[in-house]
Amino acid sequence: MSQAHLAYESRVNLGSYYTPPEIVGTAWEMIAPYLRSQMTVIDSACGYGDFLKDRGQAITIGCDIDETAIEVAQKHNDGVRFFQTNALCDVSRAKFGIPEESYLIVVGNPPYNDKTSLIRQSIKRVDFEIDDDLACRDLGISFLRSYDKLGADLVCVLHPLSYLIKSTNFRLLKEFTANYRLIDGLLISSWEFPESAKHTPFPIVLALYERDTQGMTYDFIRSFRFRIDGKNGFCLSDFDYIAGYVDKYPKKKNRPTYHDSLFFWTMRDINALKRNRTFVENYSTNTIVIDKQKLDYYAYIDVFKRNLHRLPFYFGNCDVLIDDDLFKQYKSAFISDTVRHHPFLKKHFQIGPIAEQQTDSELDTYFKLLFREHHL
Ligand SMILES: C[S@@+](CC[C@H](N)C(=O)[O-])C[C@H]1O[C@@H](n2cnc3c(N)ncnc32)[C@H](O)[C@@H]1O
Repeated sequence: MSQAHLAYESRVNLGSYYTPPEIVGTAWEMIAPYLRSQMTVIDSACGYGDFLKDRGQAITIGCDIDETAIEVAQKHNDGVRFFQTNALCDVSRAKFGIPEESYLIVVGNPPYNDKTSLIRQSIKRVDFEIDDDLACRDLGISFLRSYDKLGADLVCVLHPLSYLIKSTNFRLLKEFTANYRLIDGLLISSWEFPESAKHTPFPIVLALYERDTQGMTYDFIRSFRFRIDGKNGFCLSDFDYIAGYVDKYPKKKNRPTYHDSLFFWTMRDINALKRNRTFVENYSTNTIVIDKQKLDYYAYIDVFKRNLHRLPFYFGNCDVLIDDDLFKQYKSAFISDTVRHHPFLKKHFQIGPIAEQQTDSELDTYFKLLFREHHL
């Protein structure tokens, strides 16, 4: 393992998961058309410096907060100026000796560490200063904002796809989205990083951004076609999502009013659905009180959960997908399947159940039509 000098806890807190060489190579292929002789290249979270190869640039800079990483990087990279420092504090070109007029390219794989996510919460802490205008609950978002502060002209970095496709995250990027435009994005599974392979994979994007006063809106991202190895690409707006049909979160006045109220677990994205339950028998603050007019759609989500193995990793942060017209055609199969798994729901549905074999074959057809070329 590359970042072997760090104990597990430090790896989590520094987000130190070094990048496999093939991905570094792909990043440089994406940058190639933009290379100039008078440019500066910086990786401000450089680890052992694997992104810092000589591509004919005038100045190459590596920075990391981790002292040992910088010592190793110095041994392997001649001609690179290294800084052992916190890249998120007092950010400016002057800090790294980058000429104001230089065309600046940022490369690398900054740490992503959401301080508020529950995963590995017990050991998480960030104990370095972050400039007020960069501070955010997720370190990776702070890093993206720091590239804007450096006035980078081109940015080619890896980061979770969720920064772009979840609208709440997208808004957190602030000035970054006002000043940069995505020009290429290749989707990579977190399983490409050996240490992440134990967990449910999440999508990472190898993203190329160019400085652009037009910036980008969330709608621009919704219609952006991301590249996937060996496939046609993935675009959010190719699909319709369940958020338009049900409540995903408990409402403010979310109290069961009838003795036969039905409950559903809060929904976030597809990866959360993988871990969580759907219909639950008891009320809690994490449950939605189901509006029975929409019960069919909750049955839909319940069936969808049992079919998640059909979907590739890059849907992990999306909402549940739906084709409403097609769903209406196959509704009895969905309801039969839900009732088979949750017999207590039987009395709530009007549609009579159909045979198990027919149900399975109709669901198979539905999901193949819905996922099209993405179906696994
Ligand atoms: C995902 S690793 C990437 C290392 C290297 N760029 C690569 O891809 O192989 C993230 C790196 O960010 C460094 N790091 C974390 N917080 C930092 C900070 N505030 N300033 C500078 N480096 C930081 C970690 O020490 C770690 O080496």
